[in-house]
Amino acid sequence: MDTKRVEIKDRMHPKEEELLEAARILREGGLVAFPTETVYGLGGNALDESAARKIYGAKGRPSDNPLIVHISCIDELPPLVKEIPTAGRILAETYWPGPLTLVFPKSDLVPESTTGGLDTVAVRMPDDPIASQLIHLSRVPVAAPSANTSGRPSPTTADHVWQDMNGKIEMVVDGGQVGIGVESTIVDVSGPVPVILRPGAVTQEMLDELLGKVLIDPAILGPMEKGVRPKAPGMKYKHYAPKADLALFEVKEETIKQLYTPGSRLYSLISSQMISDGRNWNLKPETFYMAWKVNEAAMEMEKAGAKIGVICTDETMDLYTVSLKRSIGKRASEASVAHNLYGVLREFDDLGSDYIYSESFSQTHLGGAIMNRLSKAAGYRILRV
Ligand code: TXA
Ligand code: MG
Repeated sequence: MDTKRVEIKDRMHPKEEELLEAARILREGGLVAFPTETVYGLGGNALDESAARKIYGAKGRPSDNPLIVHISCIDELPPLVKEIPTAGRILAETYWPGPLTLVFPKSDLVPESTTGGLDTVAVRMPDDPIASQLIHLSRVPVAAPSANTSGRPSPTTADHVWQDMNGKIEMVVDGGQVGIGVESTIVDVSGPVPVILRPGAVTQEMLDELLGKVLIDPAILGPMEKGVRPKAPGMKYKHYAPKADLALFEVKEETIKQLYTPGSRLYSLISSQMISDGRNWNLKPETFYMAWKVNEAAMEMEKAGAKIGVICTDETMDLYTVSLKRSIGKRASEASVAHNLYGVLREFDDLGSDYIYSESFSQTHLGGAIMNRLSKAAGYRILRV
């Protein structure tokens, strides 16, 4: 199949005529990849069973993994769901349009091919002018998983989509690089207590503040134990794993304590390291220590002849002497790290490294989503230093 690529001139103000053909393709059962504020989606008519089958085919994704249904205004929600529980109403009023997906009991209108056989449906109203206008013009709810081949990092640029989908779908709408860079937060509001199924830019702290305590699905926190079923079926599949062996470095509580205890061995070591080259590093001692340990381990591998790359940050970049390093963003801005995360992982895949060592990030706020994606990519291999 010939895949058309349509470039949107002004991504904040797409013109109707730029999206009419894409909307027609969706309405007629074809597939169109388009940008959202989180990642690129691979869209098809959510009410058309054959469109859902085509999506699974193009992604190479198991068909029991349900799809998120995208809408452009709140009036499009009631026909898709059996009821709107109070927590769902509050969340939708507060965070829609935006990077939040809500799981509701589904209505009979939504085919089981879209929900992977579940009696619930995941719905999201994106806050992206292209996505929003395209869904509106198509006049159908749009099922859209991330537009990557199953097992690859989610696409954050039209070029990423092109690498995975060229020849497999009717059209790619090119709106440049997306803003957020990690997939939406998923909250299940179909039960008595809201449960976070996937962390994202609407953070746990934001949800707790709005609703009181929310629960967290254990699949988010670590590897699933055998026999336990994650609530978001997508969590059970082998997730994106880089071609290289990826390991995350994390600083132990015990180490941090020492780093702040004057007179301790680590305190003296790191203070002298931090001032020895006369530079004002402006880093927390634990960050300096982590980067120092990552570099030490990476240099050892490099000397042994391994092709190793390091994922670092703007602030720590200069500290590294290893030959292959990429900054994932600024430590001072978690948003910049989320924004670059999948692009950096794709770049390392293209470079063909055998090993990747990465710095880790805090688990709070957007860091929760960043660490969830990085830990999964690393197969939960976390080296505590
Ligand atoms: O940001 C996003 O959500 C992007 C953009 C394109 O909107 N979409 C996305 O879709 O990340 P996808 O298919 O890559 O991830 C959907 C996740 C899967 O883990 C799936 O299992 C879960 O949502 N999911 C979908 N429907 C569900 C349901 N009814 N109950 C529980 N989990 C569901
Ligand atoms: Mg995905």
